[in-house]
Order: sequence, then structure tokens, then C-alpha cells
Amino acid sequence: MSYAEAYRESVEQPERFWLDAADAVDWDVAPTRALDADDAPMYRWFPGATLNTCFNALDRHVAAGRGEQAALIYDSAMLGTTRTYSYAELLDEVSRFAGALAAQGVTAGDRVIVYMPMIPEAAIAMLACARIGAIHSVVFGGFAAAELAARIDDAEPKALITASGGLEPGRTIEYLPIVERALGLTANAPGTVIVKDREQIPGSASDVAGWLDWDAAAAAAEPAGCVSVAATDPLYILYTSGTTGKPKGVVRDNGGHAVALAWSMRNLYDIGPGQVMWTASDVGWVVGHSYIVYGPLLVGATTVLYEGKPVGTPDAGAFWRVIGDHGVRALFTAPTAIRAIRKVDPDAKEIAQYDISSLETLFAAGERLDPDTYEWATAKLGIPVIDHWWQTETGWAICANLRGLEPMPIKAGSPTVPVPGYHVEILDGEGAPVQAGTEGNIVIELPMPPGTLAGLWRDEDRYVKSYLATFPGYYLTGDSGYIDADGYVYVLGRSDDVINVAGHRLSTGSMEAVVAGHAAVAECAVIGIKDELKGQRPSGYVVLKAGADIDPEQLRVELVAMVRDQIGAVATFRDVTVVQALPKTRSGKILRKTMRQIADHDEYTVPSTIEDPAVLDALARLLGGRDT
Ligand code: COA
Ligand code: AMP
Repeated sequence: MSYAEAYRESVEQPERFWLDAADAVDWDVAPTRALDADDAPMYRWFPGATLNTCFNALDRHVAAGRGEQAALIYDSAMLGTTRTYSYAELLDEVSRFAGALAAQGVTAGDRVIVYMPMIPEAAIAMLACARIGAIHSVVFGGFAAAELAARIDDAEPKALITASGGLEPGRTIEYLPIVERALGLTANAPGTVIVKDREQIPGSASDVAGWLDWDAAAAAAEPAGCVSVAATDPLYILYTSGTTGKPKGVVRDNGGHAVALAWSMRNLYDIGPGQVMWTASDVGWVVGHSYIVYGPLLVGATTVLYEGKPVGTPDAGAFWRVIGDHGVRALFTAPTAIRAIRKVDPDAKEIAQYDISSLETLFAAGERLDPDTYEWATAKLGIPVIDHWWQTETGWAICANLRGLEPMPIKAGSPTVPVPGYHVEILDGEGAPVQAGTEGNIVIELPMPPGTLAGLWRDEDRYVKSYLATFPGYYLTGDSGYIDADGYVYVLGRSDDVINVAGHRLSTGSMEAVVAGHAAVAECAVIGIKDELKGQRPSGYVVLKAGADIDPEQLRVELVAMVRDQIGAVATFRDVTVVQALPKTRSGKILRKTMRQIADHDEYTVPSTIEDPAVLDALARLLGGRDT
């Protein structure tokens, strides 16, 4: 099938298209229908069907004779070690840990928080939850106690799985004090805490009465079998940043997710059984959920779980070493990682040290792949470098160059075309379609394909308000961009207060909430400004309370510490500028977009709704922007 045929069928005959795709999954009760639109706009996929995601990721490959094949390769550049788990070994570890969870009373539908560094036990914990029908919610290890607590508050978990800590270059992150703090901040502390002890990091389960040691719990447990769940039952909740400080709990189902990811492995990434995919992300992000854990395992491929950085662990050849050591066929990473390598090794001399001939394709997502970085990677690697655009909410790519289905010409700066199942359009502020080449809101006509979010955890109102209410009949992506005359989509950036720092999605709203909590701050705005390495970085603008007497550098140091303490180091909040006033509209809305344009030295137009143009002028003089 060509791309055009597949796309047409997915839009015109979605039932046929997705029921065909569903054949890639082993069902307990096979679907007879693809889409359930009875509760539209709350769409459901594969009603009446049942399955187990872990069975599809592990058991069926062992049963098919792939037990000895590598399922997961844990490569730790931090420790200088590698450990390969065959499918049979991974199944054994997962079954035993699932048994340990079951022994603690965790059953289908219960939530389990997974707060783990990049070690195999993170994937094992996720798969163990899937095995018994429990709903995992992984929290990125770079988040601080308050962020962890906010997720515990919302998910009301029965258990929390963690490790003694993570390894960052030059320092260790002790997780247990963070977990203890988070549990002290929440009213919904889980009854069970299980800790994987890492000898490199102080702290263990025995530090707190009642906490369980991972190894002991798994050794004592009876291996658990697979619990059949409805295709529409949640597999996981993944919290992501919205425009407010409260994270959104994106809910993923079991059936649609398995079908979509299996389809994407073959048609997008061109990876099948026995082939090696390496996604250099973190299990705490959606990219890690989909393509470190579930996608490769669902199709019987081998996944690499890498603990380390692109540079400095130990050098800018780290990625090429991993590719050579494990015969990686597809590498998926964030553009920031490529920029980091380029900065240290502009001529990519390190590549010559390794045999990277297995590498067929480099995939990038998480932020826009800027043309400069695209050109560099293409020239240095001599293989296709593929940008693809997606979000936590969609769970897999909205736009891509489908390498397995039909490779298309690459245009630098564009993630190519809509993936089958996604009807992408550009609308202006009033909801009218715009002409080719004109920038507007990128929206997706409902229903979205399988694998996309089923809603927000126990908050249908917020789901509708955030995504569906602005343009009825469409899902609002929050990104703006345009489609060119050839149908190529260009994603230019967020049109809301979400920012992407080194491919990490963060909310400026939550940073503002922290900054506003400082005794000397009357009001503030945090905006995302351009950053050469990380794509964007947060930048804070504060107005002091009348009479506040604090040295600006002292204030900066205190605010940086507060954001680090309450959100996490990953926010990389470092810039603070004291201003006399913030530019606002007459209705009091802070003109963040204009501020961003000024800070980025882009051209900007003074909005007609401005309350006091002098405030904007003062900011422009301070930051050196240009008025058009
Ligand atoms: N646990 C605890 N802390 C973490 C963490 C984790 N899992 N991940 C990052 N941090 C900390 C870092 O140690 C750093 O702390 P510091 O301020 O004390 O130095 C801070 O958060 C910022 O981290 P990071 O954004 O990783 O910046 P860096 O300067 O350490 O590294 C890059 C720069 C480019 C090497 C790194 O950002 C990178 O690898 N980017 C690719 C990102 C990626 O894969 N994103 C996934 C989306 S697909
Ligand atoms: P996340 O939910 O963390 O995956 O972040 C999703 C957001 O990252 C999107 O809404 C975009 O703003 C941005 N993003 C991800 N991939 C791309 C891409 N390939 N091109 C442009 N922006 C991207």
C-alpha cells in the first residue's frame, strides 16, 4: 500500500483500516468493531474486545520461540556496564514483580506510581502493572517532591515503586528523601512502597518502616499470570504539563495503544522482530513509554534502555558507541541531543571510532528539528534523518515520514505529512480553515486514531475545555504552524504557555506559581525564550512589591533555588529580570507572546488591546527588541 492509499483508507474507511491493523495484536476476545462513537466526543477504540498488553509484549514472543532473543539491553554509560535480558528472562522478572504487586493487594484498575531512574526495573515495573491490569503512572526522575506529590494526589495510587536513586554526571540523586517528602505533602499516600536498592546510591527500603525491598518482594512472590482487560481499560496515566500549574493526567487505553504502536513500528520506524531500536529518552516521558518500552516489545524487537547523556558520559562518541555495541538499526532522540554532540564534536570525528553501519535511520522528536541541525546530522551520518511530530496526548506520531510504508522526500524543517488516522488542519482564530502556507492553529479532526488519549484522568471537563471546546469537532494540539502546497506540515511552536526545554515539556504557569510565592515578588511572568542548545529555556520577569529591598542577584539566586526545589533541576530556570511593570492588555492579561518576541529579538507588533504601550517600550529598551 502507498502512503496515499493508506491515508485515504484510514480516513474514508477507518473501520476496515483499524480492524486490519488490529490483527497485529493477540486478543483474548477479538474486536468486531473498531470505533465506538456512542459517547462522542469521548471516542473509544475496539469496544467489546479484551487483551493483555504485557502478554502481547512478552509472553507471545516466548511462546513463538523467541525466548532466547534479546528483548531489552540495559546500557549504562554511568556505570560502564551492559546487561541483556532475553524475552524469557524479561518475562520471568516481570511475572515475579507482578506477583509481588499482587501480593500487596494491587489488582486491576489500581494505580501504581513508578518514580524510577533509567534502570531495567522501571520497564519491569510498567510491564508488571500491565500484566495484572493495574494502571501505571510513571513520574520523571528529574521532578522534585512537590511535583511527585501533585501526581500522587491526583492518581490516588495503591503502591509506589521507586529506587534508591539516579545517576547524573558528577552527582547522585537520592530518591528516597524526595519520596518521603512527597508522601508528607499528599493526603493520598499509597499503602505500599517498594524500593529497588542501587548499591551506588545511599538509602534503601529499610530506612522507613513498612517499605519493601524490590529483590526480597520479587523473590518471595508467586509469578503472576496475565489478567485480561477491556481494550478500553486504561493502561497508564502519564502526567504532562498544561498551561496551569496542575499537570494533566493523560489516559491511555490498552487496545488502541497496542494496535497503534504495532502499526507504527512497521510502517513508521520500519522495525520488526529481532531488529534493534534505541530510543534515547527517559521512561518518564511519553517517548520512553511508547518507544523504549511498549512499541519495540509489542513487535518482538530489541529495545535499548540507555542510562547516560549524549555528551560527557564519557564523551561525544557515547551514542555512536551504543549503536556499534548493540547493532542499532533505528535511533530516536531529541534534537537537543544532536546539538549537544555537535557542540562538542562539530566535525563528528568520534563517529570514526565505531562501526555504526547498522544504523539505517535517525528519528527526532520532542521539539522541532531545526534545519541547521538536520543538515549537520544528515551530512555526518549519511542516512535519512527523520523529524516527526507528536505529543504526550497522542502517544505516537501525528506527522511523520513513514519509512516502512513509503519513504517520502524530506523537507528540512517539516515533520512531513499527517500519519494515517490523523486528519490535520490549520484553522485561524475564528475556526476557519486557512490557505496553504498560512500559519494558524494546528488541529486534528475528531475522532483521532487509536492510541491517542482516551481523556484526562477523572476530569472530563478539563479534557473538553483544554482540547475540544475551542473548535468544536476538532482536537486542539496547542501547536501553531502551516501546511504547504505539497501537504507538508510545518510545526512552528506552541501557542500556549507550554515550553520545551531540551525536549522536556514544562509549564511556565507552574514556574510562575513558584516565583510568585517569593515574599518580594508582586507579580511575575515566565516565558520560554530561544536557547541555542536546549531549543528553549525559561526566563522570568518580576515586578517587586512596593518597598521590597532585595539585591537583584540575591533575588535571582533565591528564585532559582525555589524553582529547583519545587519543580526540579530539569526546569533549568536560571534567568530573572526585574522590571518596573509587566505589559498587559486592558483586561489584565500579560502579553507573554509579545514579551517572547521581544526577548528573542524577533519582530513584533504592539497589540491593539495594550493597556500601556510605555511598559512594552521600556521592556523592549531593556532587552533590545524591534517594533515593526
Ligand atoms: N533525574 C534527576 N535530575 C535530572 C534528570 C533526572 N532524570 N534529568 C536531568 N536532570 C537534571 C540534570 O542533572 C541537570 O541538573 P543541573 O542543573 O544540576 O546540571 C538539570 O536536570 C537539567 O538537565 P538536562 O536538561 O538534561 O541538561 P544537561 O545540561 O544536564 O544536559 C543535554 C544537556 C543536551 C545533554 C540533555 O539535555 C539531553 O540529553 N537532552 C536530550 C533530552 C531528551 O532526550 N529528552 C527526551 C524527550 S524525547
Ligand atoms: P511532549 O508532550 O512532551 O511530547 O511535547 C509535545 C510538544 O513538543 C508538542 O506539542 C510540540 O510543541 C513539541 N514537539 C514535539 N515534537 C515536535 C516536532 N517534531 N516538531 C515540532 N515540535 C515538536
